[in-house]
Amino acid sequence: MICREDQTKIDHWVQKFPEPKGAVLMALRILQDRHGWLSDESLDAVAEYLGIEKVDVYEVVSFYSMYRRQPGGKHYLKICTSLSCCLTGAYDVIAQIESQLNISLGQTTSDGQVTLQETECLGACQGAPVGIVNDVDYHEHLTPKSVDQLLETLQQEVEHE
Ligand code: FES
Repeated sequence: MICREDQTKIDHWVQKFPEPKGAVLMALRILQDRHGWLSDESLDAVAEYLGIEKVDVYEVVSFYSMYRRQPGGKHYLKICTSLSCCLTGAYDVIAQIESQLNISLGQTTSDGQVTLQETECLGACQGAPVGIVNDVDYHEHLTPKSVDQLLETLQQEVEHE
């Protein structure tokens, strides 16, 4: 289930920890990058490869919102709806995105490019409301207007891929 190339990547991380279990986050990230999401088979394969209990892998996946448990779009746009972001207009931003992309929360655009999700606190509350693209690219102080610009940039990236 885990290809040779990914095994090599995982081995690199295993060496950095006293126990193989320490590499579970990176192993999951590696498989998610490969497949676009994490199936039960992928989680089981990580547990088997690291020699740890399956429950330890499933606990990690359920705790962190960066792990995708269902197939979705090529790009993930997540908007934080925890307290600070909620109070500063996160749902107005989400409504604007839904309108612009013609999808609802949890859905993927018809071209398969963008999945819209809400997420728990992203640890950047001072910049509320906050969104994140593909779990790495933070966007703070979002407004319905600024999110239009973000969507435009995302669209341009899609066109250049
Ligand atoms: Fe949204 Fe913390 S509440 S980043």
